[in-house]
Amino acid sequence: MELRSVRGTHDIFGEEIDKFNRISNIVSKNANLKNFKEIQTPIFEFSELFAKPLGEQSDVVLKEMYSFEDRNNEFLTLRPEYTTPMIRAAISNNLLNDLPLKIFGIGPMFRRERPQKGRYRQFNQINFEILGTKDFIADVELILLSNNILKELLPQSEIKLHINSLGDKKTLSDFKKNLTKYFNTHKKKLSEESVNKIYTNPLRILDSKNIEDIEISKSSPKIYEYLTAEAKKHYEDIRRSLNLLEINFEENSNLVRGLDYYCNTVFEFKSDDLGSQDTLLGGGRYDGLIKLLGGPDIPGIGWAAGIERIALLMDHEKKTNSIVHLAVTNDKFTDYFLYLQKYLSENKISYYWNYKYNLKKSFTKANLYSASYMIIIGDNEFNGKFFTIKNLITGEQKELELHQISNYLNDKSR
Ligand code: HAM
Repeated sequence: MELRSVRGTHDIFGEEIDKFNRISNIVSKNANLKNFKEIQTPIFEFSELFAKPLGEQSDVVLKEMYSFEDRNNEFLTLRPEYTTPMIRAAISNNLLNDLPLKIFGIGPMFRRERPQKGRYRQFNQINFEILGTKDFIADVELILLSNNILKELLPQSEIKLHINSLGDKKTLSDFKKNLTKYFNTHKKKLSEESVNKIYTNPLRILDSKNIEDIEISKSSPKIYEYLTAEAKKHYEDIRRSLNLLEINFEENSNLVRGLDYYCNTVFEFKSDDLGSQDTLLGGGRYDGLIKLLGGPDIPGIGWAAGIERIALLMDHEKKTNSIVHLAVTNDKFTDYFLYLQKYLSENKISYYWNYKYNLKKSFTKANLYSASYMIIIGDNEFNGKFFTIKNLITGEQKELELHQISNYLNDKSR
């Protein structure tokens, strides 16, 4: 038998595990600051926990769940997401007495999707939930928290926040009826996949990636026109607060999310550097879900982010980072070299040296690490009291004195 891992799964080790640990440390630190308590739930649950809340017609339930019958003839499912198991755990363990309940969790999820860059069949999520308040401040607090965590993990990435409101359940069901009518009159131009969703899940046509679907969706009814006065106020309060906090956002009326339990606020953080799987983090309100799962009729809101997608962006940042590699050709330049190290540290310039007095080996390493610059110390540099800086992308070479290096690098890396 050929020894191999299951398609869509991956082993995590080396640099990857370092990134995973860094992500969970930063998440836990931020969770503590905001008083969220950690919770871990089992990896599998009874299948019925997921089908109705996520939506009988959602892609996850229709085709992506790993479900099986165990030896007691019980139907079990590997959790495809964390919100429903967390709510189940809060109800099962009587955690809903003191509200709001603020919980978070980190762990693997399972969805049988077509694997590609940023999309796996076993992947890891960070998940935050606030149960028991409909105050818009909870929405703002969660968006602010996700923004802070992403900024800390990915300081150089351009990540855009998209927001929308889906209104209450009644608004959403009226809106869906009108969408069905609209798409039905345009069905000749829709993709086959979208045609199949006209009656079952018309909202999902709005976030189709097919060019013709996008064109047709542009003139489709807009949810904002259907919102109740209360839902409009909730949405306006959020936009006002985000402006006040100087968090940039884009209103996206086609943002509908893939799971059925949402209402009112929905949001996603997206990055153009992720390819087609461009959503890093997504979430929203789910008033009604806790009751549906057998708990009290209280509202809730939360978000989840994919750890693998954050790790991909960390790689991307590292590649575009102007990492400087040092090349020291002989150990007789050690003292001269120590001055340089001190200078680079004081000027917060990221550098790497491989402890080898060999120019060729230094270039090989620099190439491997996708470094942008090499600073070379050889006889000429040592005798002339300068440093040679080579731009590894353009090939340009400059001779600079120590105090000129920072300005030069900052100029070039802009
Ligand atoms: P979701 O949008 O299905 O939401 O997933 C959240 C995040 O998990 C995505 O933005 C993505 O980064 C990551 N993700 C999803 N599927 C995959 C995959 N196949 N491979 C890699 N990463 C993936 C939820 O799961 C909701 N429970 C979020 C939530 C929490 N809403 C309220 N509370």
